[in-house]
Amino acid sequence: MDDKTPQAILEDMLSTDRSTLLTMAAEQCSEGIAVVDLKGDIVFVNHAFASMHGYRSEDLVGKNLAIFHSKDQLPAVAAANKQILETGHFSGEIWHVRSDGTPFPTLMNNSTLRDASGKPVGMIGTIRDISEQKAVEEKLKAYSDNLEQLIKERTRELDLIRIDLFNSAKLAAMGRMGAGIAHQLNSPLCGALLLVDALLDEPVKTPSAVNQLNSLRSTIVAMKQIIDCMLSLAKVNIRGQPELVTVDINAVLKGIVDFAGLECKKRGVAVSVALDSDIHTIQARRGDLDQVFLNLVNNAIDAMEGGGTLSISSRRTENRVEILVSDTGCGILRENMEKIFEPFFTTRRNRHGLGLGLSISREIVERYGGSIRVARSKKTGTEFVVTIPLTSFSNNDKK
Ligand SMILES: Nc1ncnc2c1ncn2[C@@H]1O[C@H](COP(=O)(O)OP(=O)(O)OP(=O)(O)O)[C@@H](O)[C@H]1O
Ligand SMILES: [Mg+2]
Repeated sequence: MDDKTPQAILEDMLSTDRSTLLTMAAEQCSEGIAVVDLKGDIVFVNHAFASMHGYRSEDLVGKNLAIFHSKDQLPAVAAANKQILETGHFSGEIWHVRSDGTPFPTLMNNSTLRDASGKPVGMIGTIRDISEQKAVEEKLKAYSDNLEQLIKERTRELDLIRIDLFNSAKLAAMGRMGAGIAHQLNSPLCGALLLVDALLDEPVKTPSAVNQLNSLRSTIVAMKQIIDCMLSLAKVNIRGQPELVTVDINAVLKGIVDFAGLECKKRGVAVSVALDSDIHTIQARRGDLDQVFLNLVNNAIDAMEGGGTLSISSRRTENRVEILVSDTGCGILRENMEKIFEPFFTTRRNRHGLGLGLSISREIVERYGGSIRVARSKKTGTEFVVTIPLTSFSNNDKK
């Protein structure tokens, strides 16, 4: 009866049938193992190697390693072989091709096999299919790229919200202050205007008195306009809550063009108007749209110091109306582009610009669910687009 210990049995096996034991160990291994000769012809592969490539072990013996290499991997394989020749070892990623032609990534560790005298006789390598690991890595990378993109987008959104909040806070403060000032100033100003009109109606006046009275009148009207701006910011009409009326957009635009006509003539500005006749009415507060377009037109005229062309056009798309106001003026500096809608930003201080026109215009247009933006601005001119959604149109007026 054999009463040898397992250790003794193993030692016996090693001394008598070493190669069987090593083959068994190689077959048990979950990593692929291959032994090839100097030409790359396979001498031995274990089960893991054969099955990860879609073959049976016995079908691979005698085949060359080249069957696993696609054309695009040849440079990588050549570099790996060079490294083995020079250093006796290679460790790295190489793509292999399965028997059905599908490529898959592998991680391999290859070493030169030498005989007893140290002469190279072949190569032994272990190989692991890292498809799953790669897929996870790619998912992680896509996830982290996406996350990075999301963070960038959210940061940008937050920045915009912060600027908007800051601007609305400024506007709200201005509005409250404006409402107070307006209430106090409106009555004396109206009184002064009445007085001036009464004096202008007097039958006996010198020409110079008429001139002075007229310029006094213009000053009072300008002051009243500033007050209207303040009131618009506060969204408070001096007579109470804003009242919605039916406003014909094209009529507003024609009115503005007529109003600005004299100023344009004086400044050598040609006016081109192309209004879409399909645009009808919108329910709006009286004077709101006039304020928006008058400011855009004034800005455009101001930008054309040496004359130019002011173009106003309107077009109706299925669900909105677009009004384009463009000029051939100086354009807006790139660094000012973000600031022009901020309250009090102006480059026209020397011409008594308050820097409120565009911020008020935006506030008004957004109240109707619309938007106002710079469509283009170069040294040769600027174009603003005001968009008002069709939902603002009164039902009766829809075609
Ligand atoms: N068409 C334009 N061409 C060049 N710059 C423009 C144009 N429109 C606006 N801007 C720039 O935007 C700034 C802000 O315009 P905004 O209408 O808000 O204020 P303003 O015209 O300076 O003053 P306010 O309208 O209060 O009298 C202007 O000072 C100017 O620098
Ligand atoms: Mg302006």
